[in-house]
Amino acid sequence: MVSTVLIDGKKQADELCLQMKEKIKNFSRPPCLAVILVGDNPASLIYIKHKRKYAERLGVSVKFYQLSPVMTEDSLCSFIKELNENPLIDGILVQLPLPFPFDSYKIIDTIDPHKDVDGLSSTNLGYLFVGQPRIIPCTPLACMALLKTVVSDFSGLNAVVIGRSRLVGKPLGQLLLDAGCTLIQAHSQTKNLSEHCKNADIVVSATGHTGLIKKDFIKAGAVVIDVGISRTPEGKIVGDACADELMGIAGAITPVPGGVGPMTVSMIFQNLISICEKNLYNR
Ligand code: GUN
Repeated sequence: MVSTVLIDGKKQADELCLQMKEKIKNFSRPPCLAVILVGDNPASLIYIKHKRKYAERLGVSVKFYQLSPVMTEDSLCSFIKELNENPLIDGILVQLPLPFPFDSYKIIDTIDPHKDVDGLSSTNLGYLFVGQPRIIPCTPLACMALLKTVVSDFSGLNAVVIGRSRLVGKPLGQLLLDAGCTLIQAHSQTKNLSEHCKNADIVVSATGHTGLIKKDFIKAGAVVIDVGISRTPEGKIVGDACADELMGIAGAITPVPGGVGPMTVSMIFQNLISICEKNLYNR
């Protein structure tokens, strides 16, 4: 029986907070992040609350703009362009999903790539996919940081990423490839998912499909990163993996909550600090 490591994302995010706080002390002014929410999606409001709380602990200023969902796409773009021009704003984050009928690709691509703290613009994703990463999306960065706590050498490892979104699956697949993994990018149309997973040293699930990753999906000692966040009818927050079943089988697993979520918040601020240090584009 394997002794399964629980990868504590909360603890690591707390440690990173202290390290970043030290860095910020040397800045001429605290970094400033603009967060835009269009509408009042309850899940988005919770995510933003976590970001603001982390920012407060860190000493980063957050300007929160909650905008009306009946505004036009043009007026949202104009608002973002003003923030692009404002020298006191270092990073801009538009909380996703945007309500219908906003075109999230167009909106994200209105953000100046130098201020795109989420790394989701075509420019920043393009740099990642040509092997010259500048600003890397936060959830994939969080997954890699958590993986690195238990994996020292990725070369030749079999990795399965379940999900192919622009936010998580695609950029994470690229990071794992670049780290030397042999990648299977699985998704809703993948056949024999359990067979692919069973052969993997690393399984990352980002589907929001509760109970997807069962014990017969995972080979002994494999690392499971659970990006899923769902709420059960009883109100409990759960991930994609049946975590209890995997104890004693997986080598390591991230809990939900307390795994990828807190580290993702931390990565937003890591990106913001890198933007302020201007060490991403000026090299
Ligand atoms: N909604 C869920 N995750 C994210 C994220 O990483 N960035 C943004 N902007 N919105 C999200």
